[in-house]
Amino acid sequence: MKVDIKLWSEVPESQLEDLFLNNPFSLYRGTPLADDMMKKYMFILAKENAEINKEGAIVAIINGKPIVTAQVYEVPYLSKFWNIPIGVLGHFVTDGPNDENTYLAASMLVRELLAKAKKNNFSFMSTNIPGPNIMLIRAVEAQSFRYAEGFLNMVGPTNRFRDSVKVPGMKIRGLVEEDFLEIADAYARVSFPSRFATDGGFDPKKASQLYMKRFREVYEQQLGKVFVAELEERFAGAIIAIIDEKMSRTIGVRSNILSGMGIIIHPRASRRGVSTALVEYRQEYYKSEGVEYVNFGANFNNRPMILGLEKLGLRYGSLDMTFHLWLKEGRCAAPT
Ligand SMILES: CC(C)(COP(=O)(O)OP(=O)(O)OC[C@H]1O[C@@H](n2cnc3c(N)ncnc32)[C@H](O)[C@@H]1OP(=O)(O)O)[C@@H](O)C(=O)NCCC(=O)NCCS
Repeated sequence: MKVDIKLWSEVPESQLEDLFLNNPFSLYRGTPLADDMMKKYMFILAKENAEINKEGAIVAIINGKPIVTAQVYEVPYLSKFWNIPIGVLGHFVTDGPNDENTYLAASMLVRELLAKAKKNNFSFMSTNIPGPNIMLIRAVEAQSFRYAEGFLNMVGPTNRFRDSVKVPGMKIRGLVEEDFLEIADAYARVSFPSRFATDGGFDPKKASQLYMKRFREVYEQQLGKVFVAELEERFAGAIIAIIDEKMSRTIGVRSNILSGMGIIIHPRASRRGVSTALVEYRQEYYKSEGVEYVNFGANFNNRPMILGLEKLGLRYGSLDMTFHLWLKEGRCAAPT
């Protein structure tokens, strides 16, 4: 079977749109809101990225039909944070059937993307694939990517939550600058599974700063809200709440499903219901903002987090698999 690799810009747009609209492994993330409209939105995002990433956006074609597409590009905030050039394979879509043609097309496509990644001098690559997309997972494994993290998307409607959780002595307010010291202290004291902490090539202590940085980013760039819980007048925990305004404008779906978020509870306040209260508070906020359905992603080995989300009535929506690959010969670690 002959596989042709073409640039995204050389393939008729209607064929590419069809590939996205027929994607059986779309990022549904378990939300009924994110069905066909979400597939359309994923196409719009991929097209926008392909327009600025002309050489990195490619398509594998068999008998004139696009079977797989993906793009290779840098993730500047990660490159800056780890001080090495970091790339990602993103905007991945396959035509669907878990058959040999998809595997072949995906393997050729991944090989080609990795050649481009090497040309770009990326040291480290990652990619995120929906769990059921077996052929794509096999294709990236065949090109030496290693499993790094399973990510559970826990989903639920905002209107079916229990009445507000009352934790004695607790109040919730907005974030202020002084809270960052407490957030840093909390992250320094807890450990939880994450792909950078468990990869082996990154300093796990530094990895936790990445999550802290996200709080700073959301606060400084006003990407969303950060709610802080205080217990007996002391910082107890914080949670990020983001509504994807671009998605809302483009397809009319108000949700948080594609936005990175975070929650941290200071160990001095753990197991007292603070995270439960914060998640519930956030649900109320989302509901008041017209968000009907939410996603809460967590590493599937983060048992405390997942048990807590289940207690709140959130349910398994989908599973994403993240894979890592170190490209620099003799290197499998970022400088510390
Ligand atoms: C996970 C985390 C947010 C839980 O916060 P918390 O305020 O202690 O949780 P709560 O008191 O609200 O607990 C709610 C439920 O979660 C589950 N849970 C919480 N901590 C648990 C633990 N250590 N072991 C098992 N279950 C746990 C339980 O079901 C608990 O209910 P219960 O106490 O009635 O049994 C907190 O430990 C934390 O900050 N961890 C590190 C950061 C992190 O993992 N962030 C999430 C990344 S996605």
